Amino acid sequence: MNFSFVPGDAVRAGGAMLVIPLLEGELGDSAPTALVSADKALDGKLRAAAAQEGFKGKADQILTLNTLGKLAPERVVLLGLGTRARTTLELLRLAAGRAAKTAQKFKVTELTFVVPDTAPAPEAARAIAEGLLLGVYKFDRYKTSGKEEKKAPGLGTVRLVLPEGVSKSAQLEAAVALGRHVAESTNWARDLVNEPPNVVDPDRLAEAAQEVAKAAGLKVTIGGRKDIQRLNMGMFLGVAQGSVHEPRLIHLSYVPKNPKDAKRAPLALVGKAITFDSGGLSLKTADSMVDMKTDMAGSAAVLAAMRVIGELKPPFPVHAFVGACENMPSGTAYRPGDILTSRLGKTVEITNTDAEGRLVLGDVLAWACEQKPAAIIDLATLTGACVVALGNYIVGAFSDHDATMEQVLAAAKTAGEEFWRLPVTELQKDALRSEVADMKNSGERWGGAINAALFLKEFVGDTPWVHLDIAGPATSPKERGYFNKGATGVGVRTLVEYVRLRTRLPESAQAEAPAAPASPTKGKSKGRAPRA
Ligand code: BES
Ligand code: MN
Ligand code: ZN
Repeated sequence: MNFSFVPGDAVRAGGAMLVIPLLEGELGDSAPTALVSADKALDGKLRAAAAQEGFKGKADQILTLNTLGKLAPERVVLLGLGTRARTTLELLRLAAGRAAKTAQKFKVTELTFVVPDTAPAPEAARAIAEGLLLGVYKFDRYKTSGKEEKKAPGLGTVRLVLPEGVSKSAQLEAAVALGRHVAESTNWARDLVNEPPNVVDPDRLAEAAQEVAKAAGLKVTIGGRKDIQRLNMGMFLGVAQGSVHEPRLIHLSYVPKNPKDAKRAPLALVGKAITFDSGGLSLKTADSMVDMKTDMAGSAAVLAAMRVIGELKPPFPVHAFVGACENMPSGTAYRPGDILTSRLGKTVEITNTDAEGRLVLGDVLAWACEQKPAAIIDLATLTGACVVALGNYIVGAFSDHDATMEQVLAAAKTAGEEFWRLPVTELQKDALRSEVADMKNSGERWGGAINAALFLKEFVGDTPWVHLDIAGPATSPKERGYFNKGATGVGVRTLVEYVRLRTRLPESAQAEAPAAPASPTKGKSKGRAPRA
């Protein structure tokens, strides 16, 4: 998709479709010039039609009208943004996504989009670019019917009409370029999640990390079962042992060129990467297993964010850690009752093999903390309980480090992703007490999302850590705005904004690198990195 900026007259800008975002209650005298001139060319019938169809500019209203040869564009699309007081960039992004889906329906290859004055032009233009690119996303590569349709050119040319008094600038160009990069990476993550579990196995995830490394100029190491053994990741090994697929330990890193920056405490990102979660011997029901190819969405978001971070080149290192495996029942599978020894030496009694994510993450988090990161963020489709608590649209955010939590929440807000902080209260800790080991992997049902967070907390020591439970919003149950039913790529935009935010913060305001957590108590060779 190519974006260009055009000044002035939207009606004459060309393309088969003219898209005009409108605020609620501003279709009358205060209407934007684009609407006024389109309406004039249509003898006042545009506003008349809007009134007849009940289009008031409410958020998520959309109206598509054929111009019957009276206007160069064949269709005008009006997009509601809600009231001026309450409208947001995310509402614009969602509206642009709807416009993209309308353009697709009518096989439009070129359109003109009026940039509203509801936000600074670079931000608005970026949100439009993101919404359009996210909105045209489709996952149809396994559909053998409609091949001709799939070959038809999609929306390729977008002209952005700038608000009055705003002219094309390097800042605008950069904002749109960033939006495009973020949206393309989000779509890349959506593909990885939507791909079936017989295609995206741990090896394929490792390949995806290698692709990112190559494209973004990052360093990557991929380890296998032997390396995981050598690192004493007993919990990770336990989960992986029921599958025929070898587990993969992925470490992707961006290190700034400037030697001083390269020495700064890194940011660490960790993503859950269960390529299929059957539940293991504590087998899931048929219904709850159907979507479990999405149990690697956390890692897809982390890898996709690294794709952008390599381009952003922040003045501090960023490391991504992913432990990829499949959770399967078999003769070699780990069992309820097994006791596993983690990298940190803590022992865990398995009471439910379906609480596998925390086991893999516990070992990978501990390993990541050995890099002495200034902050560590994990993204995981961790608990059904979080979906019960917050539904399909909100990420559950956990942390006992207020400053880092607030930065992540601020980044989410800028990115237009909905996060809600939940407590990591020690009151729940009893739920994980074991009679025979240091703890058990699953406790009582109540507060299940908190229990999982408390389990993870055991493995991060004093490192400022934020855990994001994305089990709900990793997929969308329906088409909505720029979403389709299926993978959303949630988290990519927030991670990118978080890196941008940290880049702007003075070093002193960034959380100090704490001491590394207690090193492993067991095993001979500790901390040797896997081979490249
Ligand atoms: N991957 C699931 C969580 C999940 C549920 C993701 C729904 C997406 C949608 C996770 O591994 C799991 O099975 N969690 C269990 C934990 C329980 C056994 C303590 C759950 O939430 O039921
Ligand atoms: Mn599970
Ligand atoms: Zn899982």
